[in-house]
Parts: sequence; structure tokens; C-alpha cells
Amino acid sequence: MNIRSVFQAARPQPVGTHDAFAADVIAGLTARPKTLPAKYFYDLAGSALFERITALPEYYPTRSEIAILREHAPAIASMFPPGSALIEFGSGSSRKARILLSAAASVAAYVPVDISGDFLQQDLIQLERDLPHLVVHPLVADFTKTFAIPAELAALPRVGFFPGSTIGNFEPAEAAAFLHHIGDMLGAGALLLVGVDLVKDEATLYRAYNDAAGVTAKFNLNLLARINRELGADFDLAAFVHRAFFNAAQSRIEMHLVSTRPQKVWINGIDIDFASGETIHTENSYKYTIESFQALARSAGWSPIEAFSDGLFAVHALRR
Ligand code: SAH
Ligand code: AVI
Repeated sequence: MNIRSVFQAARPQPVGTHDAFAADVIAGLTARPKTLPAKYFYDLAGSALFERITALPEYYPTRSEIAILREHAPAIASMFPPGSALIEFGSGSSRKARILLSAAASVAAYVPVDISGDFLQQDLIQLERDLPHLVVHPLVADFTKTFAIPAELAALPRVGFFPGSTIGNFEPAEAAAFLHHIGDMLGAGALLLVGVDLVKDEATLYRAYNDAAGVTAKFNLNLLARINRELGADFDLAAFVHRAFFNAAQSRIEMHLVSTRPQKVWINGIDIDFASGETIHTENSYKYTIESFQALARSAGWSPIEAFSDGLFAVHALRR
């Protein structure tokens, strides 16, 4: 199977269509307080900015998770049923899956699922060249919506992979519902690996979302730039600033964009008023202890079987 033709076949799926994007943006910006869904960070520019974040000295989660996966790849690979399909939710660069796929020669297929279609393709051609036994079948899809596993892979045992602490971008109740949904999709007895950032000292968390080079601020502001590009809005990016802080009561980093002056923004025929200091809440990034995440997983029908950790980050192995 040729990855390019598969990818092109996947492209027409109605993911983040212009109409859905416009409706979500208007709904979020007319709500009180104003909010925008974090999944819209990831157009091509946003995905590239996220990749830069992963290399920042302050952003420890990616380095930690990669080191954990490298150290424990043989143990994790031994849990995979032979001939399985690895389904990754929010695969981005697929860098972490590559570690597992290189250690688990018995995996027959890799299905990276990501909303960022233009970005998804980039590293997969090389992956397919390096692991020629592997069927790589990318899907451009919103993983919170139902999507179909390719028919030719439907009979394979399924292993889920949800790295990067992307689960932390859900509200805990939504995270539990999503884990439940993944369980239904993967089936009884399935294995699921979830990367989850750990609760830690506030200074380390603060720095990870307030890097000195300002890349996280650019990532946050790119959301407004994307709304300008795709919806013809007139956000003045110089009149908003990035704010990120740890909300200890909720165990989450919150990211906001703060209006530095009173202003009116035109979006898709609607004027949105901002007071000086008013914020748009753009992201939550929940942090869990190993135990609090295991409790969440149990509540969603998963049995924790192992948690691999370096004290900063944890990779949970769960069984349905
Ligand atoms: N797994 C990678 C990337 C994490 S960044 C890593 O661990 O480094 C989060 C990824 O999830 C991005 O690639 C983004 O495009 C994708 N994503 C976010 N929300 C999504 C959604 N609702 N559906 C599909 N992909 C989503
Ligand atoms: C993808 N997600 C888990 C990242 C996080 O840490 O919440 C996105 C991110 N936002 C700011 N920096 C990184």
C-alpha cells in the first residue's frame, strides 16, 4: 500500500471544515468567559510551532517521555499482541511511535490519526521506508469524533497510543469519556499506552509554558492569526498577549490571550467586543499524579497494568 495514495484518499474527510471552525470560533468568542477550542492550534504553522516547543529547554515533557519510551521500549513491545495495529491519537511528528515500532517488529500496521492534515504526512514516508514490513495508514480526523479503522486492518488486534499528555487538554470528565470511547473502539482485552504529565513544583510548570524565547506565546497567538487567515477576521495580534499560569486548585496550566486594550474584532460578519484585560481561554493542560490518572482510567473501564515514569512524566499501560 502506498502511503501517499492512502493519505490523499484520507484528505476529503470533513475535518475542521471552514464552517465548523467558524461556528466554534463564534460560539467560543460570544461565550462568557471567552474561550477557543485548543484543537484549532494545529494548522500547519501551529504544528510547526508545537514542534519548536518540544525542543525548548523549559519544555521537559517531550524529552522525558521520549527517554521513558526508549528505556522501556522492550518491556512495552513485549505487551503487544503479534500482528497488531498501533493506533495513535494526535500523532504529530510520529517521533514517539517510531521508538515503539522499531522495538516491536511484530506490529503489522500503524494508524496515525491527527487533525493537522498538512503536517501529518511529513515524517511518515521515511517511517515506511525504514520499516518496510509495516503498513502505514494515516487518517486525517478529529479523534473526538467517530472515525473508521481502515477495513483491511479491521481484523488485527488493536493497541492504542495517546502520548504527549494530549489527554491533559481535556477536562477530566471529558478525558474519562474519551478513554471510554477509545476502549469501545479498541475492544475487550486491548492495550492502551497513555503519556501523562505529572503534577510537580509550580516553577517548573510555569517555565514550561512561559519559555524565554517566546515560542509558546507565538503558538498561542497563532490561533488568532489562523482565524484571520481562514475566516478573514481582523485580530490585531499586537493587541493581545500570552498568559499562562498554574491553577493549583484545578491542577492545570491555563493558557489565555489577554486583550491589552478595549477593542472590537470583526469575524465572519460579527463584531466581538473586548474590554481591556479581558481574556480568551485557549487551553487547559491538566497535570495528574500516577494515582489520580490511574483512578481516572479505572473509572473509564481500563485496568492499570504498569506506569513507567522518570518523576516528571508517566507513560501508563492500561488493559481494557
Ligand atoms: N503526539 C505528539 C503530538 C502532541 S501535540 C507528541 O506527543 O509530541 C497534540 C497533537 O494532537 C497535534 O499533532 C494535534 O494536531 C493533535 N490533535 C489535537 N486535537 C486533536 C483532535 N481533536 N483530533 C485529532 N488530532 C488532534
Ligand atoms: C499537546 N499538549 C499536551 C501540549 C501541552 O503541554 O498541553 C500543548 C502545549 N501548549 C503549550 N505548550 C504545549
